[in-house]
Formats: sequence, C-alpha cells, structure tokens
Amino acid sequence: MTHDQRKHRRKRRRAAVRHAIFTKTPKKLTGGRLGRVKPGKNFEVNEREILIPDLSDEFCGLKIVHFSDLHVGELITPAHLPHIVEAANAFEADLMAVTGDFVDYSNSYLPAVMEAMSDLRARYGVYFVLGNHDYLDDGQEVVEAFAASKLRLLLDEADVIQIGDNGCSMGVGGVRWSNLSNEMDMCVKKVNIAMKGCDLKILLAHHPHCFDAAHRHGIDLTLSGHTHGGQFLLSKKRGKKGSIGLANLGFRYTRGLYERGACRLFVSSGVGSWFPFRFRCPAEITRLTLQAVY
Ligand SMILES: [Fe+2]
Repeated sequence: MTHDQRKHRRKRRRAAVRHAIFTKTPKKLTGGRLGRVKPGKNFEVNEREILIPDLSDEFCGLKIVHFSDLHVGELITPAHLPHIVEAANAFEADLMAVTGDFVDYSNSYLPAVMEAMSDLRARYGVYFVLGNHDYLDDGQEVVEAFAASKLRLLLDEADVIQIGDNGCSMGVGGVRWSNLSNEMDMCVKKVNIAMKGCDLKILLAHHPHCFDAAHRHGIDLTLSGHTHGGQFLLSKKRGKKGSIGLANLGFRYTRGLYERGACRLFVSSGVGSWFPFRFRCPAEITRLTLQAVY
C-alpha cells in the first residue's frame, strides 16, 4: 500500500466515525425528521452587493449566484436537490459558482448530484470546484464524473470569457482542494497565470484561506465555502473581524464578505451540512451583484 493510500484510509476511518456520531445518530434519534425537505425552509436565499475598486463598467451589475457545501447523503438527501437548483436558477445569474463538498461521505449519491447540477443555468457559465468531502470516498471517481459530463470543473485552471463589445475579459478560475498554505499558493499562482490580462479575475476555492494567496496575486474576488459559517454563532451581527462562532476556532475567514486592499472574499455558509444543527447561521444560496467603488 502506498503512502497516499494509507493516508486516504486514515482519513476515511476518521470520516466514518464522524459520520456515525454526527450524521447518522442525530438523524436516527429524531426519527429522520432532520433529513426532511421543507421547501423554503432548508436554506435562505440571500442577496449581497460587492463593491470592487475601479470595476469596469462592463462588469457593474454582474450577477453571480454562489452556493457551496451541499453534502448530499443521508441528511441532505437527493430529494433536496431540485429545490436548491430551482432557487439558484430563479436568480437568472450571469455566472454561477458552486464551491465543493457535493457528496458528504459516499459516492453512491454522485449520479443524483451530477444530474441535478446539469440543470443549473447561467448566462456566462456554471463553474465548479471540489471540496474535501468529495475526496472522502473516491476523489478520482468524482473528477471522472465531471469529465464525463458537460459540467466545468476547475482543477487549477481558468476560463477567459469576453464580456461586451469593448474587449473586456473576465477570468474564472478554480483551485483543487488543499488545506496546506504552500499548496494553496502554488495552485492560486497557476490559476492567476491562466487569467493573465483579464480585467476581472474571479477565483473559486473551497478553502477560504486561499484568499491569502489570492490577495498576494491580486485576484479581485474569491468565492469559498468549507466553514459552513461555523453553524453556531454567538450573534448574527458581524464584528470588525467577521462573525463570532465555532468556526473562529479553526478559520481566519468564516462567513460573509471580507475585504483586503482591492481584493474581496465571500464565504458561503453552505447550502447543506453534515452536522444537522445550526444556530443563528442559516444555510444559504446567495446572489452577489458586483458594483464599482471609486
Ligand atoms: Fe462542507
């Protein structure tokens, strides 16, 4: 057995314990109530404005629909997917970004996820990156499922999209999952090169700490997930450094909008989760509208 296989086995064992205690047990104890679809109640549909310094006129009003962390499995069952897709499509996005953790623990839910994701629509395209949970069962199988579909999974790569008639271009890039800062920097650097010369650069990264590298490379907007907003917040209001809650124990960026210099980060609270309880931190799908600030 190789070093990587041993590492994956250890991760899978830890995930099995987590899954049994925090997902299966609460669902069982509540007679399956926690996994039920409650249309209009499982997640919030939010709208936010993002002010970007000296944004070209072509991009002002650009609508990006962003959601993350579906965790399709025993708790967020495939029956939730049509509601998520319907809510996302209702925004009539220019661009759509889905930032990982499609499946929670088992790839047996992957066909249902792929089918639902293929119903997403946006004027300039729908883009995907993978999260850590997508590697818990068989990451290669997830990558291959995307490759076999027409869905655009970004693995340290970017597309350049022409906007309007004035030669303006928007780069949409995405990085593969990592939680190591040197790897994140390497991947972001590679994606930034692929977006060279673009008037607006957007990065999809499951881990919000990629924002540090994105800021170093001057990427205008980073879209992330992974934290689930912390799921438990002391207050819905944000302090100077953002929301205060459980996620602060492990993350520099936990939920909502962050600004550093001219760069922006939006961290989704996730549309699903593996632990079934939230407090003052609802699941969400968000429409972000870009505007210029001078
Ligand atoms: Fe997640």
